[in-house]
Amino acid sequence: MVWAGGFQRIVRGLVPFGLASGLAFGLALVALPALADFETDLKRVEAALKKNPSQASGFAVRSCLNRYKFAVKLYEDGHEERASRRLRTCFELLDIPEVTVKARVSAPTQEDLEARARQEIERALVAEPDVARGLALYRECAGCHLPEGWGLSNGSVPQIAGQHRTVIIKQLADIRAGNRDAVLMVPYAAPEALGGAQGIADVAGYIDTLEISIDTNKGGGDDLAHGEALYTKHCARCHGAQGEGNAETFVPRVHSQHYNYLVRQFDWIKTGRRRNANAEMVAQIQAFSERDVKAVLDWVSRLEPPPSLQAPEGWKNPDFTDRPFE
Ligand code: HEC
Ligand code: HEC
Repeated sequence: MVWAGGFQRIVRGLVPFGLASGLAFGLALVALPALADFETDLKRVEAALKKNPSQASGFAVRSCLNRYKFAVKLYEDGHEERASRRLRTCFELLDIPEVTVKARVSAPTQEDLEARARQEIERALVAEPDVARGLALYRECAGCHLPEGWGLSNGSVPQIAGQHRTVIIKQLADIRAGNRDAVLMVPYAAPEALGGAQGIADVAGYIDTLEISIDTNKGGGDDLAHGEALYTKHCARCHGAQGEGNAETFVPRVHSQHYNYLVRQFDWIKTGRRRNANAEMVAQIQAFSERDVKAVLDWVSRLEPPPSLQAPEGWKNPDFTDRPFE
């Protein structure tokens, strides 16, 4: 751990990878106030710790150093605001003048948000998931996604059971970074709820253990031949013949998803409301008529995963013994 490596290492800027890239990122993005502020504060505190221009006492310097280290750790764990606050107490301790110039703040661009999400995805992908911790985190999710991860047949909440781990990670990181608007999900994807990239990896690792339900909400079933033809022509090359998606390219499984959810997501993807959508898919579906959309999604809602991934009849998640919400 870096902060165990002592003051010199930290102050010389040998910050750990996560922070270093976080900072580089913050620099590139004046647009993200939290990052830019933390980065600026960090530099000023570093300078004051090195030179101590206001001749603060040894006690104040040591105390600030502790805060500094803790702030770095908080920042690494994704708690940017808390990290910033922690660091700011150094301003008093070391008598550093407050910044008078208000930083210009503009809304982050789509590219900024994507870059931010990408960084977190990369970290979560390489983190070794702690499934026991993932279960502890997942208890919060179960309130909406259900203990089995099957979601709701009215389509308000998707089935996430069996979804590729990479896709779960990407969606959580996108929601957290503000690259996908999912109002209900935001507080649950936030660092305050899950912690940093490790927390995302842990909960995704746990979701990976859930069995897929095929007892999901379906479409009307009256235009399936048309739906199949459209699917084969326009969707299968990315989502796979059976809707199995592709873990490596972050393409979600769409089989056994609630029809009503598919309809809403498809519409949001088509109209640009779901900002993290795949650009090629967006282009591909522009010419779809209302009939096409219904037919193809009806077909999708009837695709099933291989039997080995399907929940056995009557399966309940054994990790949830008392079920207050049933
Ligand atoms: C308050 C209800 C609620 C809670 C709690 C909740 N979710 Fe969700 N989740 C939703 C809703 C609603 C959506 C669909 C968002 C949309 O329509 O775009 C969703 C979407 C998702 C998606 C994207 C699925 C897809 O197919 O694109 C993932 C992944 C996810 N949630 C994971 C989680 C995890 C992990 C937790 C716990 C840490 C959690 N959710 C907690 C309501 C919730
Ligand atoms: C060029 C590849 C590509 C094509 C073609 C494509 N998709 Fe997608 N689709 C994706 C990717 C990638 C995502 C996930 C985007 C993201 O990261 O949020 C996605 C997301 C979706 C989702 C949202 C799933 C979820 O869990 O939230 C649905 C529904 C969907 N696609 C249906 C379709 C259908 C139906 C077609 C054919 C009409 C189609 N897609 C064509 C790549 C594609």
